[in-house]
Amino acid sequence: TARRYLIAGNWKMHCRRSDGAALAADLAARVGLTADPRFDLLVCPPATIISPVAQSVARSAVAVGGQDCHAQVQGAHTGDIAAEMLADAGASFVIVGHSERRTNHGESSATIKGKATAALRAGLTAIICVGETEAQRDAGHAESVVAEQLTGSIPDGATASNSVIAYEPVWAIGTGRTPTLTDIAAMHGMIREKLSGLVADPDAVRILYGGSVKPSNAAEILGLADVDGALVGGASLKADDFWAIAQAC
Ligand code: G3H
Repeated sequence: TARRYLIAGNWKMHCRRSDGAALAADLAARVGLTADPRFDLLVCPPATIISPVAQSVARSAVAVGGQDCHAQVQGAHTGDIAAEMLADAGASFVIVGHSERRTNHGESSATIKGKATAALRAGLTAIICVGETEAQRDAGHAESVVAEQLTGSIPDGATASNSVIAYEPVWAIGTGRTPTLTDIAAMHGMIREKLSGLVADPDAVRILYGGSVKPSNAAEILGLADVDGALVGGASLKADDFWAIAQAC
């Protein structure tokens, strides 16, 4: 299969306008105008600085994404942001269903499916996140939890060009702990199989791994057969680290 890697940085609630724009400009200078044949590079800053970050990378192949969106186009939804608004600000991707949204904002898979549907409507590529908690893994339920999240969250009309899956075990996020390579490979294989009932072109869909990815473990994780990139939190805030992860593709 000829899947290009996607190296995505989730900046979460970090960066003010000036350091966000500088980080993005640094990455843009490294990438240049033409995307590397091995990988696509994406940064997902807080919504308030999508626009200046998009300007920083405008003359490069670096893409910009949002971290969440609302299901509706517009309306009385104080504090929410429509997928169309992210696109208007310069985004071409949006993360939906990150575990921090599922946990801190009580988002169900049905909610996330609505958001992913909105992303597709707005012409954005949805990065749909799934992943088990430590208790669920310990109980032997990791694969069934992830399978259920996939079935519930993937929108109708999802294809490899408008949707990306990100597997992020909740217990690996920001902890420095990662599953074994065998466990990552098994989960990504299961996700690939499950996708065959949910999208038309399962073999072309990119499945990212996320959770404590750093320069020292990127090569072995990205070397696994069904791992098509990384969703990087902490290490995406340093240009050298994020770039080193991309170079491991
Ligand atoms: O979306 C990114 C993840 O939650 C991973 O975060 O790389 O800081 O563990 P981390």
